[in-house]
Amino acid sequence: MVNPVVWDIGYLISAALFIIGIKRLSSPKTAPQGNRLGAYGMLLAVIVTMAKMYSEEIIGLELIVGGLALGTIIGVWMATRVEMTGMPELVALFNGFGGGASALVGLSEVLTRIKGNDIPTDNVELYATWIAIGLSGLVGWLTLTGSLMAMGKLKGGFYLPLSKKDDRGRRKWINFPTWGPPWLNFVKGGLLVASIALIWMTIQEPGNTDYVYALAGIAGLLGVIFVLPIGGADMPVVVSLLNSMSGIAAAFTGFVIGNNVLIIAGSMVGAAGLILTFIMCKAMNRTLSAVLFKSFGGGGRDTVTRTKVGSDPEEVAMVCDGISKCVIIPGYGMAVSQAQHAVKEFADLLEAEDVEVLYGIHPVAGRMPGHMNVLLAEANVPYEKLIEMDDINSELAECDVAVVIGANDTVNPVARSGEGPLGGMPIIDADKARVVVIVKRSLSVGYAGVDNDLFFEDKTMMLFGDGKKMMNELNAAFKDL
Ligand code: TAP
Repeated sequence: MVNPVVWDIGYLISAALFIIGIKRLSSPKTAPQGNRLGAYGMLLAVIVTMAKMYSEEIIGLELIVGGLALGTIIGVWMATRVEMTGMPELVALFNGFGGGASALVGLSEVLTRIKGNDIPTDNVELYATWIAIGLSGLVGWLTLTGSLMAMGKLKGGFYLPLSKKDDRGRRKWINFPTWGPPWLNFVKGGLLVASIALIWMTIQEPGNTDYVYALAGIAGLLGVIFVLPIGGADMPVVVSLLNSMSGIAAAFTGFVIGNNVLIIAGSMVGAAGLILTFIMCKAMNRTLSAVLFKSFGGGGRDTVTRTKVGSDPEEVAMVCDGISKCVIIPGYGMAVSQAQHAVKEFADLLEAEDVEVLYGIHPVAGRMPGHMNVLLAEANVPYEKLIEMDDINSELAECDVAVVIGANDTVNPVARSGEGPLGGMPIIDADKARVVVIVKRSLSVGYAGVDNDLFFEDKTMMLFGDGKKMMNELNAAFKDL
């Protein structure tokens, strides 16, 4: 038998790596190292846990090796297959896995204890253990179903293998509507009260498994109903809140099984996710309660009926010739078309002509926090040139040309009206520049489904086409001047 201090030391080092890692994530320069330290911490935590379980004969070598191999294969398969644009769905799914894993550990602990008649006789211990088990189940199951729902919404629906193909040869998807009448809040409140009552009942009758299963069902339903009314531009907020909840569920599970590293790591994920949630709320100019209870992001998709004549790359290149300041505003379309390298080349060409080039980064541009920063860093854009929304807005009145590449909602002036799904969301004031160039394939709406007046302004030049292709053509035209 190994001295238990060995496991504690292993967990302590792992927790220290998490803490130093997350601290290093606070600056772009040290972030890759922070990421690596966090990964080493997790690897160490897994190795220590497996060694501990083997040494204490909790599980055999076959299960350890089999579980590790299966997890590694699925993890590598998912991470290598995912497109950069599919990352938010993957993150939502991983949040759900985290919540589900915590709930399953809590469930197995309570069932093992009931079966083995290992129910605490001391009242304080009973309350503490059963409340921790109940909360890990409530938060864990809610996070699992809520995250699956969020993933489905981000994806636009789920694939149905046996369903009929539509006229474009695609199989139907289950679509998740954004639906939230005000009375649904009473249902949510009722389900929450019922869950708490069930946790209470599990303490009153600690040997009764019916309450445990009922809690799992009600918490799962609550997760679905919790995410159902949220949609459109408010999705980033709910995804980061679910991320925080997956950490909180893990921390509760840590209490249940007496695992310190789970408590530390879970609390860190919970706190970091909550901070990110409030940053997202601030970016959307919403309060968290408004996102959760007012169904802001709902509404249908506008149909675009207006038209606008497109410009060609040569015209845009001529407009950019001789300017002194250009602000590039990237959005989701830059990620889809992988145009970041062509965008950097465009900036280099302008800078060679002594043009000041800055990038305006909206906090929810793209589909995940920091989406634009990651892509532009990959194209070697210096980090100092990425300017946050508030700061770039004070530069835009002095800007000759704003190049909007694949962004839509984040530059949509309708947000200033306070109405509709984008109402009240702060935007990057691209329309304040002297000339606006917008690179996208059509006049179609963005993620929130709202028509954009900016496309139809006289000073706006639409460069219709795939982002990368159009930026390459623009670069070629600029070189030919
Ligand atoms: P969006 O409003 O999503 O618009 C992106 C535009 O890119 C689309 O209108 C599309 O127009 C264009 N596009 C797509 N493929 C393209 C391609 N290959 N080449 C060129 N353009 C292409 O973008 P945004 O301004 O970045 O706003 C992000 C939105 O997503 C916000 O509403 C935000 O709340 C939401 N959201 C953000 C996150 C996070 S955390 N960032 C997470 C979930 C949701 P065409 O089809 O005409 O080309």
